[in-house]
Amino acid sequence: MPKPYRSAITTHVGGRPYVYGYDLAELAGTNSFARAIYLILKGEMPDKNSEKMLEAILTISIDHGVEPPSVVAARNVYSGGSPVQAAVASGILALGEYHGGAIEAAMENFLRYCPPAGDGADKLVEDFAKSGQRVSGFGHRLYETDLRTIRLVQIAKELGFYGKFVKFAEAVEGKLLFGGKRLPINIDGIIAALLLEMGFNPKVGKGVFIIARTPGLVAHVVEEALREKPFRRLSEKDVEYDGPRPRK
Ligand SMILES: CC(C)(COP(=O)(O)OP(=O)(O)OC[C@H]1O[C@@H](n2cnc3c(N)ncnc32)[C@H](O)[C@@H]1OP(=O)(O)O)[C@@H](O)C(=O)NCCC(=O)NCCS
Repeated sequence: MPKPYRSAITTHVGGRPYVYGYDLAELAGTNSFARAIYLILKGEMPDKNSEKMLEAILTISIDHGVEPPSVVAARNVYSGGSPVQAAVASGILALGEYHGGAIEAAMENFLRYCPPAGDGADKLVEDFAKSGQRVSGFGHRLYETDLRTIRLVQIAKELGFYGKFVKFAEAVEGKLLFGGKRLPINIDGIIAALLLEMGFNPKVGKGVFIIARTPGLVAHVVEEALREKPFRRLSEKDVEYDGPRPRK
């Protein structure tokens, strides 16, 4: 009879915990956290350049201001009196298709349209324009050019990850315009291309951003706890009421 759970990730041998066959106690103190993350997501140890690339992705994504939906959600949930884990979890729940959660879809699009398997950047832009859908991994609320993308591309060039998926993302960027405005590759888009260059499955996409941003969310929740009074609320001045006037 098959056992109810199957896993190739982790087990105990002689009372010692192993991840993909590596003794965790031996990894600690000799390997970086990025290396351990690569191992647990991919099942094998990274080479030096893959470790550095993943480390750069994680570092550059650790935080991005107080204003994004995830941080507002996390701080507000804590402010309402819920515990740290609920506040951090609510921040993670806000990492959706428009904010930090577009990596998986962008990876799937790149796999589908990137030549030689796919029909190329023109076809992707045409298909999305026809369907009216937004192209995951492109566009930014604030930036015409996302400096984080430029830095990751520079590092990718140094480490040997400036390959067909990054070039494909750049080709799409060159063709995506809205009313004459350029829609730049955003952090999700460049991470998607780089994860493909490193051979990751699209299913890890959302997880990589969650792993990277969770320390930031924890920091915001702890700051909220230590510095702010409970019960954050908007003031009436911040709200435009456009419902009915009082009536009988
Ligand atoms: C990030 C994002 C939410 C910013 O949205 P925004 O602040 O409305 O961006 P802009 O003001 O530049 O958008 C202007 C117009 O361009 C269009 N547009 C924006 N991003 C687009 C995209 N990726 N593909 C196609 N059209 C896009 C929008 O439809 C918008 O038109 P609308 O107001 O008529 O709907 C948006 O670009 C987006 O949804 N991107 C795809 C999802 C994604 O990659 N998310 C991860 C972000 S890190």
